[in-house]
Amino acid sequence: MSEILEQTTFLKDVISGLQAKSKRISSKYFYDQKGSEIFQQIMDMEEYYLPACEKSILENESENIAALLKSDSIQVLELGAGDGTKTSIILEKFMVAGKNIHYFPMDISADILKFNQKTLANQLPKLAVTPIVGDYHQTLKEFPKAEEPKLILFLGSNIGNFRPQEAIDFLKFVKECMDPGDHFLLASDLKKNPSQILRAYSDPGGLTKKFNMNLLERINTELDGDFNLKGFDHYATYNPLDGLAQSFLVSLKEQEVNINGKTFPFDRYEVIHTEISKKYGSDELKQLMETAGFKFKKIFYDTNNWYALALGEAI
Ligand code: AVI
Repeated sequence: MSEILEQTTFLKDVISGLQAKSKRISSKYFYDQKGSEIFQQIMDMEEYYLPACEKSILENESENIAALLKSDSIQVLELGAGDGTKTSIILEKFMVAGKNIHYFPMDISADILKFNQKTLANQLPKLAVTPIVGDYHQTLKEFPKAEEPKLILFLGSNIGNFRPQEAIDFLKFVKECMDPGDHFLLASDLKKNPSQILRAYSDPGGLTKKFNMNLLERINTELDGDFNLKGFDHYATYNPLDGLAQSFLVSLKEQEVNINGKTFPFDRYEVIHTEISKKYGSDELKQLMETAGFKFKKIFYDTNNWYALALGEAI
């Protein structure tokens, strides 16, 4: 998408989200340059246990995952690949296990894919890497059929940012792009002690607040907005019944905000919903895969059972 078109979509979404009865802005707009940098810092934060769990599963279970993939030659496609640092773990273990791998990182950002390619060229010089720039909804659909089976990776617990029905629709879409015998590896955070989950989204150091508030800064700079950041606060909740961690921006007073010539009134304590991060139970993950038409194969856990990698096969 061109930058101007992107900007127009952003503006349209912000306007319709702030005109809705319950105000909302999609978490997909968190990730401008500054938001991506803050997210990198969140990933290193002690309270945000998710990346360490995922890394440990990749380190300890990649060989067992490789053993479930029959073919010696595999095309590994990664959706929203990012910088590839974590993925290099599974790719290396697969290669050590004797698999012949061609890696296709897919991401909307050409810059991050350049970085990904460099990282992997340093770490795994023998690995074949073909970066694919674009929205993976398009690039996955257009991916040419080959002799070797595919393993599609969706890491980082990004599935958590989909509403439950969106998650089913997304998995169905992925499944439609696969052939029988292809596999899908899905990473997800799991339900656990609610206090621990809440701390991950409401850290005492305020990094998650900075991440959430950056959305308002982004609207100010890119969409000619006049949000007064002092008039808003970050608020996170976690409901252990449905596994939904949710983030909001709370208006601390009655106020008006102008964006691109339009005025949006806020009541005191009115909220903008900005993110859901769904935590799954193991049964829910299995059911999600089966509902989307996959043959569920196995779930791999870290030693605390806080996080999961679920493997499904297209049939
Ligand atoms: C990218 N995504 C999986 C993160 C999550 O945990 O939902 C984004 C995030 N939001 C707050 N902290 C991290």
